[in-house]
Amino acid sequence: MPQHLISIADLEDGQLESLLELALELQARPEAHRSTLHGKSIGLYFEKSSTRTRVSFEVGMGQLGGQAVSLSTRDLQIGRGETIADTARVLSRYVDLLMLRTFEHGTVVEMARHATVPVINGLTDELHPCQALADLMTVHQEFGELRGRRIAYIGDGNNVAHSLMIACARAGVDFSIASPPGYEVADRYLDLARGLASGTGAGIEAGADPHAAATSADAVYSDVWTSMGQEKEQEQRLADFEGYTVGDDLMSRAKGDAIYLHCLPCHRGEEVTASVVDGPQSRVFDQAENRLHTQKALMLHLLDHA
Ligand code: CP
Ligand code: NVA
Repeated sequence: MPQHLISIADLEDGQLESLLELALELQARPEAHRSTLHGKSIGLYFEKSSTRTRVSFEVGMGQLGGQAVSLSTRDLQIGRGETIADTARVLSRYVDLLMLRTFEHGTVVEMARHATVPVINGLTDELHPCQALADLMTVHQEFGELRGRRIAYIGDGNNVAHSLMIACARAGVDFSIASPPGYEVADRYLDLARGLASGTGAGIEAGADPHAAATSADAVYSDVWTSMGQEKEQEQRLADFEGYTVGDDLMSRAKGDAIYLHCLPCHRGEEVTASVVDGPQSRVFDQAENRLHTQKALMLHLLDHA
C-alpha cells in the first residue's frame, strides 16, 4: 500500500523533521532537484477554490521536472456520479500522485483506500496537513529549534487548527488554542494530539481566553472565522467570534520577538487587524512561499526520492 498524507499523524517518527530539512534544502538549492521527478505526474482535484495549494503544487511539480494536471468537479465524471473508488483506480493508472481538496474528509479517505498511488490531502473540512508543514517550516526559519516553542492559535477550531495542533504535538511544539464556545477543536483530534504529545513532551492546551493563549507565545496564528462551505453561517459567526480578532493588544501579550501567522486568504478587520497582518511581525507571505518548498519535499518523499 502506498504511503499517503491524509493527516500529519500519518508521518512516522522523524519524518516530519526530515521533510522540513529537505524543504529548507530545496529552498536554498532548488537547482539540485530540477529533474528528479522527470516523467512523473500529479493529479490535483479541487472541489473548493484555491490559490496557494493549486499554484504551489503545479509549479512545484514543474520545478522537479514532472507535470501536474488540475481538475475540478466539473471536469471529472465524479460530478455525474462516477464513484470515488472508480475515479481513484482510473487516475492511479495515469498519474504517480494524487492531491485532493474536498468538502467531506471521507472523500479523501475513500480515494486513498482505492488509489494505488500516494494520496495527499490538500484540505478537507477537517484537516489541512500541507498547511501545517509550511507553518512549522516558517517557525523553524524564524527561531531554529522547534522544540520548546509555543504557538497560540486564536479562533475557529477548524481544519487548519486541527492539523497545526497535530503537527505541533508531533514536533514537540507547545500549542495553545482559544476558541469561542461551540467552535472548539474536535475531541477526536484533541485526543490524537495529546496522545502524540505524550511522546514528544509538547503541551497541548485548549481554552476560550485569547489573552491567556497569546501570553508569552512565540507565534500567534489566526484563520478565517467562516471556512469554505460555511458561508450560510457567516453572520452568526461574525457575532460569535467578537473579541477573537488578533490585533496589536493581543500581539503585545506574546513574546517581544513573536511572529504572526495566517494560512491565507485573510479578512482584515475580522480574524486579524491590518496593522498586524501587514506589520513587522507578520510572516504570512513567507508561510505562503513555504507551501512550495514543503510540498516539493513531500512529493519527493512520497515518490521515494527524498
Ligand atoms: N492556505 C491555503 O490553502 O490557500 P489556498 O486556499 O489559496 O490554497
Ligand atoms: N479554514 C479555511 C482555510 C483556507 C485555506 C477554509 O477551510 O476555508
